[in-house]
Amino acid sequence: MKALTRKIVRFAKSIPLLLRSIKMVYRHGGYSTVHIANVHCGEILKGKNVLITGGSRGIGLSIAKKCIQEGAQTVITGRSTDALERAKGEINSPLLKTLAWDVSQIPQMEAGLAKAGNLFGGDIDVLVNNAGIANGVAFPDVTENIWDEMYATNSKGLFFLTQAVCGKWMARKNDRIRKVINISSQGGFVGATYPYRLTKWDVAGLTQGLGIRLAPYGIIVNGIAPGIIATDMQPRFLQQNENVYCALNPLKRVALPDEIASLAIFLMSDAANFIVGQTIVCDGGFSLK
Ligand SMILES: NC(=O)c1ccc[n+]([C@@H]2O[C@H](COP(=O)([O-])OP(=O)(O)OC[C@H]3O[C@@H](n4cnc5c(N)ncnc54)[C@H](OP(=O)(O)O)[C@@H]3O)[C@@H](O)[C@H]2O)c1
Repeated sequence: MKALTRKIVRFAKSIPLLLRSIKMVYRHGGYSTVHIANVHCGEILKGKNVLITGGSRGIGLSIAKKCIQEGAQTVITGRSTDALERAKGEINSPLLKTLAWDVSQIPQMEAGLAKAGNLFGGDIDVLVNNAGIANGVAFPDVTENIWDEMYATNSKGLFFLTQAVCGKWMARKNDRIRKVINISSQGGFVGATYPYRLTKWDVAGLTQGLGIRLAPYGIIVNGIAPGIIATDMQPRFLQQNENVYCALNPLKRVALPDEIASLAIFLMSDAANFIVGQTIVCDGGFSLK
């Protein structure tokens, strides 16, 4: 009798969780979980100085965490000082430095780079162009303001920062290998009707062009094209918490930022020195449909 009562109580206690799960599956159309195997190489980036634009949240923050685990001195940028402070508290490592810097402000580019150089106490070895903003307003409703805002960060800012950093590397002429990692999007490989996607075509094209142009200088440029990643940029999927289900994707799930970060670390490392001008699509098959 006691055993039966215990079973009934246990079942009654599990009802709220059961109801929550049913609601979650109903709301999102299905249920998927994800297990990530974190690749940890030791200190594969030891001695490197890595500058990550937009490192206070999402994919950039995940990349920063992994850079530090792999021994790199890392500077993250972003516009919000609060978000940078939160990132600093979360990572809590002397290898991390933060810099409030809006990459869309071209006249402030040299000053920003000088500050980053001071924080590193030396040269940048790896530039990760990750900062980005999104807006889904599409043709025929795009206004000039939307266009300009999107391009200022995602394309123009990225171009001029890369030019400033690589220009200095080209002038130095030494045997040191330097790297640029550009974060594009799977949207940079499919038809585009809105500025966000068009900027991501820019980034993939620039990666290819600079890959060829800079390889003779020992500067290796590659990129990553993420699919749907659960970050602030994808609020619906970020809010799903433990349910990463996504009907749009052949894998039936979105990815977590760590899955992009692992790929970024590989591309930054000397293990990827013969990959040039490629944008690696990491989208669970989304763009193949
Ligand atoms: N999440 C996705 O599904 C997805 C898919 C494909 C590609 N991507 C690309 O991946 C990159 C990272 O996206 P995410 O999902 O991690 O986005 P997120 O969570 O919104 O983070 C964006 C980061 O960029 C910073 N940022 C934005 N504008 C900036 C500017 N003008 N200057 C400096 N920093 C700036 C943000 O900080 P502040 O706001 O404080 O400046 C934040 O740190 C972006 O380039 C995005 O286009 C994302």
